[in-house]
Amino acid sequence: MTGANVRIAGVGKYLPERVMTNHEIESLVDTSDEWIKKRTGIAERRIAAPDETTSTMAVAAARDALAMAGLAPTDLDLIVIATGTPDHLGFPAAGSLVQEALGATRAGAFDVGAGCAAFGYGLVVGAQFVKTGALKNVLVAGSDVMSRIIDWRDRGTCVLFGDGAGAVVLQQTDRPGGLRSFVLGSDGCGAPKLIMPGGGSKMPASHESVEARAHFLKMEGANVFRFATNVIPGSILEATEKAGLTPADLSLVIPHQANIRIIDHAREKLRLPPERVFVNLDRYGNTSAASIPVALCEAFEQGRIHERDIVAMCAFGAGLCWAAAVWEWN
Ligand code: UT7
Repeated sequence: MTGANVRIAGVGKYLPERVMTNHEIESLVDTSDEWIKKRTGIAERRIAAPDETTSTMAVAAARDALAMAGLAPTDLDLIVIATGTPDHLGFPAAGSLVQEALGATRAGAFDVGAGCAAFGYGLVVGAQFVKTGALKNVLVAGSDVMSRIIDWRDRGTCVLFGDGAGAVVLQQTDRPGGLRSFVLGSDGCGAPKLIMPGGGSKMPASHESVEARAHFLKMEGANVFRFATNVIPGSILEATEKAGLTPADLSLVIPHQANIRIIDHAREKLRLPPERVFVNLDRYGNTSAASIPVALCEAFEQGRIHERDIVAMCAFGAGLCWAAAVWEWN
């Protein structure tokens, strides 16, 4: 297949088997099923087994995406892993572990870090390689084991997140459509609002950093909420206009699955009916970089995406940063 355009040829997902309900979290922190459902929309989330990691989950999702695309791992030219929780801190990248486990012997591999927006960044990066004609087949996966960086004593964060992975195979095509437009943004002055202080070059692991619980995610929930309610509808609108479209043209919006109140707010601002906005956070919570590709995969499985449909995806997260893409299904 030749041509300088890009299509999503395969989608896949992996969610760990273990379900953790809100009731279970009631035994860990001072919270309630009622509060969590009302304030977030989340009923349960998945938790990775001890032997599961970001790369093992990404491999499972990637295998499904490759099968749907009808490709072998050796057909891949590049592997991009979007994650904030790589198996190891940069050495090696999760991408290389995925490449080895898949047997993708011809592929280069690297990780993209942009908090919960990492998959959006990875998708846009991968699509550029294909659109320029430089590469034919690119795997982009979002995978995060948030349960390993969550402070299970902090009710402000532990109720929100879950583990999972999603993947897409991007392929060169002659067909029109594909990535119609994108918006990538960052406002680094918001960095302290969503941060894991320890473990990086600024605060290497020490007895003190462990005692200070600095290797867990810290979040100013209300501030991040405010940011998200602006950036989700704002960036979707910007990307939609860049594509020469209006929100009424969007067949389906796949927003980052962080909080149902953020999603509902965006839906109202964009004047979209509920059936045109995908929601699965009730079952998985916020799976960070996996949120968008898992939702995309489920939307496809549910028959909610058809040929020529215009699908808008939008995520936000640590940085603070955001990524939106308008994709014409081809
Ligand atoms: O991928 C990006 C990740 N982050 C996000 O998307 C998070 C965005 N933020 C949010 O989703 C919301 O801000 C939260 C769900 C985190 C919090 O909801 P909120 O409605 O903004 O609550 P709040 O922080 O304003 O707190 C309201 C009350 C407080 O009690 P007081 O001070 O009014 O007595 C909190 O202590 O709710 C309390 N609270 C809880 N109560 C029961 C906070 N967390 C909990 C909890 N269970 N888990």
